Formats: sequence, C-alpha cells, structure tokens
Amino acid sequence: MRPLPIRMRLTAWYFLVLCLAFGAFSFLAFFEVRGSIHSAVDEGLRDRAADIRELLERQWPAERVKRELTEGSSVRGEDDILQIAETRGEWSYSSASFLRFGLQLVSSATPGEKFRFSTVYSKRMPLRLLTGQLRVADKAYDIQIAAPMDDFYDAVNRFRLVLLFSVPVLVLVASAGGYWLSRKAVAPVGEIAQAAQSISEHELSRRLPILHTGDELQSLSETLNEMFARLESAFKRVTQFTADASHELRTPIALMRARTEVALRKQRSEAEYRETLLRINQDLERTSALIENLMTLARADAGSEALQIAATNLNEILVDISEPARLLAEGKALQYDQQLPDTPLHVYGNAPSLRRLFLILIDNAVKYTPREGRISVVLNSSDGAAVTEIRDSGVGISAADLPHIFERFYRADESRSRESGGTGLGLSIAKWIADVHQGEISIVSKVGEGFVFRVQIPLSEDDL
Ligand SMILES: Nc1ncnc2c1ncn2[C@@H]1O[C@H](COP(=O)(O)OP(=O)(O)OP(=O)(O)O)[C@@H](O)[C@H]1O
Ligand SMILES: [Mg+2]
Repeated sequence: MRPLPIRMRLTAWYFLVLCLAFGAFSFLAFFEVRGSIHSAVDEGLRDRAADIRELLERQWPAERVKRELTEGSSVRGEDDILQIAETRGEWSYSSASFLRFGLQLVSSATPGEKFRFSTVYSKRMPLRLLTGQLRVADKAYDIQIAAPMDDFYDAVNRFRLVLLFSVPVLVLVASAGGYWLSRKAVAPVGEIAQAAQSISEHELSRRLPILHTGDELQSLSETLNEMFARLESAFKRVTQFTADASHELRTPIALMRARTEVALRKQRSEAEYRETLLRINQDLERTSALIENLMTLARADAGSEALQIAATNLNEILVDISEPARLLAEGKALQYDQQLPDTPLHVYGNAPSLRRLFLILIDNAVKYTPREGRISVVLNSSDGAAVTEIRDSGVGISAADLPHIFERFYRADESRSRESGGTGLGLSIAKWIADVHQGEISIVSKVGEGFVFRVQIPLSEDDL
C-alpha cells in the first residue's frame, strides 16, 4: 500500500494530538469545576453543623432545641434539610424538608466528629449530604444535613454541554487549519520534484527555481542545484575525456594506415619495408602506452583500483628508478643526479605506483629540457612529510598554462609536446597517485628557469 502523502500524515497526527489535548483539558476542567462546587457546598454544610453544635452546647431542653432549629431554619430564609437524633433515643428532630424528601437517618459510620459527604438523589433531586456525629457534654447526636444541588448541577451540565459541542468543532477547525498549513508548506517540495524530473541528461545545465523563503526549502533547492552543477561538470568531464581519448587514438591509427598505404602503393625494397614496420612498431608502442594510461585513469575514476598500501622506503624507490632515469637522461645528454638523506624515509604507500609517479615527473623533466641540461632529484623531510623535488633546467611554462597542466590531455605547447610524443595524461596520473597517498604535488616554475615539481607525502608514524 502506498503511504499517505506527508500533508495527510501531518494532519492526522495533528488531529490526534489535538483530540488528546482537548479531551484531557475538558476532562480536567469538568471535574475541577464540579469538585470546587462540592467543596464550597461542603463547607456550608460544615458551618451549619458548627451552628447546631453551638446550640446543643447550651444544654437546653429538647423542646427548646427543636423550636430553635425550626426557627433558625426559617430565620435563615431557607428551608434546612436537617435531621438530628440523640443516639440513645432520648429525642430526635427532622425538618419539614427532610421529611418531604423522605430521607432515612443513618447512624454515622465513623463516630467522633468526622463528617462524611455524599451525593444522593431523592425524588429526582440531587442532594449533597453531610452525615456525622456531634459529641456535646456526655451525649452523642447523629446528624444529617443536606443541601439541594439542582441549580449547581444544571450549571455543571450546561458547562459539559458547551465542552461536548465546542471541543469537536474546535478540533475540526484546527485540523483543517493544520491541513491547509501543511499543504502550503509541502507544496514547494512538489514543485521542486517536478522541476527536478524535467532535468534530463541532455539538459544538465538547467537549474531548479530558487525559492527565496530563507528556510529549509530554499536550502534544499540550492543544495540540489549544487548537486546538478557537480553532475554537469562530471558529465562534461566524462564526455570530454571520451572525445579526447577517441581523438588521441584516431591519430596514431590514421598515421599507421597512411604508412601502410604508402608502403603498399608500389613495390619496395626490403630495407624500405623494414623502415615502415619499424615506424609502425613505434606508433604501436605509443598507442599501447596511451591505452594503458587511459585504462589507469578510467579505473581510478571508477574507484575500482584499490592499491595495496604498506610502509614503503622512499630511498629505495628512488634508488630503484635511478637506473631507468639515468638512461632517459643520457638519451638527451642530460646530467642526472640524486640526493638522498642518510636515514631512509618511510611513507604508507604502494611502491609500484610511487615508482610510476616519480618516473612520470622525471620523464617530463627529460622531455621538456633541452639537450645538455641538468636534472636533479632531492629527497628530504619537512613538517611530517617526505618531500621529493624533481628539478630541471628546462624551459618551464607560462603562468597561463600552469593551472591547467594537471588536466587530462592538456599540453602547454601543443607542437613541442606532440613532437616529444606526449599525450597529456602523465600529470593527471601523477596527481591521482599523489591523492591516493594523501599527498600533494606543487610546482615551482619560471619561464626559462626550469621546473621544480615538489611531491609531499605524509611520513609513516615510525619516521615522525
Ligand atoms: N618539467 C616540465 N617542464 C616544462 N613543461 C612541463 C614539464 N612537465 C610538464 N610540462 C607541461 O605540462 C604538460 C602536461 O604534462 P603531462 O605529463 O601531463 O603530459 P605529456 O608529458 O605531454 O604527455 P604524457 O606524459 O602523457 O606522455 C606537458 O605537455 C608540458 O607542456
Ligand atoms: Mg608527461
């Protein structure tokens, strides 16, 4: 079953809470009013009992007491509902009203001057009845005094009726108000959902309308828009990457096709065929390197390349790569030197990836430094990090290119880089490797003054 819409659920809760709150309030109010009427009436009955006690204390003969009681009753202008009886049966007195209501004298169940109050109905008249015993001198008197409650109960019943009719109406009106409010509050969510639905992969540049309400809904639409912006840029990056990758792959394939076509156009000598095959082989090598790089980045994007991380000796890594680095440098008659600290520095890392990172940087240094230049690799530690600097005496790059060189397929000087066989992926891979190691690559470069790449990787705890 589909759950109810939020506005309905809110209203249902609201209704329930209101019912409980108003119900409890009515219940309390009703019993409080009735209770305070009872205690006021009881107080009056108690006063009357005190009057009678005073009368009995005068020790008058029974006849005089009875007369006083009758007169006292009419003097007060109200008809006492009163009955009093000497417990040993010497005399008793019942007022006219008491007889009229046909009440029975009950002997007080609690001797001593403790009064009991109860509500009784006699001839359809509700009466509040005091029952008790008065002890005067050595005599005891059972006494009952009653007060009619019809007027009070009428008022209490009217109050109950008002509650019974007004509370449901109030609850309904308040719930309707609650429904209206929650509808109003939730309506923008529907609008946002509708707008979000209309944004497809082809219209990622569209944005949700921003509700300037200054509340959670505004922040929701802003957050969603930020998410769309991130999606759009990620989507653009992927599309761009695919386009660039296919372009890069097309170029060497077109080149190889051209070479074979030219070679096949007429009969050639063996040496010529050999030359063509050699060139094609070089193209193939470059193409497989490119495919290898593309796959590395694709795996990095997919997050599927989980590197094995262990405490790794950076000195060893740099000694390892010094041989291929020297070979590369010698190919261009460059001077290559390495300075390592006496104590080995350890980082948490993946040795093959770190080797690759440094080789990418050394490869660049070699590629972009003119013949007979100089390349040096220096390892140091500072601020809890192993700092490796790869310096060259090359041409450096312009400030305009600097922010972009870590972008995929970016080459500062297109013609120079192509001639050196670069595809513009090396630094993207280097940056990814540094990121995986919680490290950082920064650049110090001035045009004509060469390049310094600084790679910082946090030291492992043992070396801190
Ligand atoms: N040491 C350097 N000196 C001068 N320019 C550099 C240096 N290193 C990188 N660059 C510039 O940055 C660009 C990007 O470098 P990156 O290593 O990503 O690509 P590439 O070397 O052109 O190709 P790849 O490394 O994929 O074969 C280079 O094309 C080059 O213009
Ligand atoms: Mg490179």
